[in-house]
Amino acid sequence: MPIDAHPDPERALAALREELLARPDLPDFASRATQPVFGEGPVGAALFILGEQPGDEEDISGRPFVGPAGRLLDRALIQAGLDRGQAYVTNAVKHFKFTPTGKRRLHQSPDAGDITYYRPFLAREIAAVAPRLVVAMGASALLAATGRKLPVLKTRGQVVPGLTGPPVFATIHPSYMLRLPDPDAQAEAFQGFVADLLAARGQAG
Ligand code: URA
Repeated sequence: MPIDAHPDPERALAALREELLARPDLPDFASRATQPVFGEGPVGAALFILGEQPGDEEDISGRPFVGPAGRLLDRALIQAGLDRGQAYVTNAVKHFKFTPTGKRRLHQSPDAGDITYYRPFLAREIAAVAPRLVVAMGASALLAATGRKLPVLKTRGQVVPGLTGPPVFATIHPSYMLRLPDPDAQAEAFQGFVADLLAARGQAG
């Protein structure tokens, strides 16, 4: 066991969940979400893959990255030779923030205050999992993990210091690729994402 490993990480994660469920001061949007969505994966995973917040499908299922962005992430992980089951996958913000528009629930980006609110939970989640590297996908994850507003497209592929604990590898968010209108641009972005994951895999050893 590494010297600074948590004595009982599974218990620490379970306590974190209970604490978040019981919080009286959650942001307003949390009360409109179906449930909080916690991280998934083994403690001690070398890679801690960090997204922004649960989306519509994640909110309903209670699991991170199971919707369209998750399917793209899964494909990229496979192409990079990574097994999702061996990584820890989670989000900076644990509740789905959305605008109700008729039948659809329209994703709303979390603001800096939302990220600050959930950061102590993220810090404790990172401490319990004790990964070698945090892979921050997109601006919100990068802000949550580093405490700095870094430009994703300029920082991607680089390792930057984490606010707490392990270093942070910056990359794009899979949803960014889904929003690109041109299929060629999408394919190119996907290959770049795979290359980033390969580099992260190399960094994590
Ligand atoms: N986008 C995220 O950032 N996280 C998810 O879990 C799903 C979509």
